[in-house]
Amino acid sequence: MRLNKFLAVSGISSRRQADQLIASGRVSVNGVIVNQMGFQVEPEHDQVTVDGKPVSIKTNYEYLILNKPPGYLTTVTDPFGRSTVMELLPPNIASRLYPVGRLDKDTSGLLFFTNDGDLALALTHPKHLVEKTYEVTVNGSPSAESLTRLTHGIELEDGPTAPAKIHVKTEQRGTTTLIVIIREGRKRQVKRMMQAIGHPVIKLHRIAMGPLSLGDLKLGATRRPTEKELQELLKLKESIAK
Ligand code: URA
Repeated sequence: MRLNKFLAVSGISSRRQADQLIASGRVSVNGVIVNQMGFQVEPEHDQVTVDGKPVSIKTNYEYLILNKPPGYLTTVTDPFGRSTVMELLPPNIASRLYPVGRLDKDTSGLLFFTNDGDLALALTHPKHLVEKTYEVTVNGSPSAESLTRLTHGIELEDGPTAPAKIHVKTEQRGTTTLIVIIREGRKRQVKRMMQAIGHPVIKLHRIAMGPLSLGDLKLGATRRPTEKELQELLKLKESIAK
């Protein structure tokens, strides 16, 4: 955004007055006086000051974490009128948000929503994929050898998976709960990985994604990211922009 527009949008002055402020050397960007009207600033990253006082524009970005219950589709609208995750969001902001990535209808857990397109891209970009952590309950008791196959990468019909991190959480009554961490996000990936070692998934629940984790958020509930989580998200976004 042009510096004069930035000043106008932030309510400091009109666009014309902004030009005068800039021309008179009262405006700095990242500590350096700038006197070109057309100087480009990135409102999210650059520190703009007028007479040494910081100026910021309030962006309309929203961020929300949902603990998705099973039974809801990850989509903004469904042509067949089935229940979607959008119904679980606070009505006042639902219209401004969209889900980042997806969870299957029967999968529960952490789903992140934003209207910040660059951040959504940073979280799903194929080159910089963030870790996604799942609690996976499977039938039977996978052997150490099978789990090692998964940690190295396993052949699926759309090609081999990248290495995964896996450990056993609990074993009880003929089922095993594993913690599985992957970076890719192919369709039904965790289910297909487990199927490939002969242990179909009974229950799939995502507990973390990049810097975000569910903590004790109740099923069906939403919360905003903490300040620390938000800082980490914005760092991720910056790393993609570079
Ligand atoms: N892997 C799956 O198989 N399903 C999901 O919903 C998420 C990851």
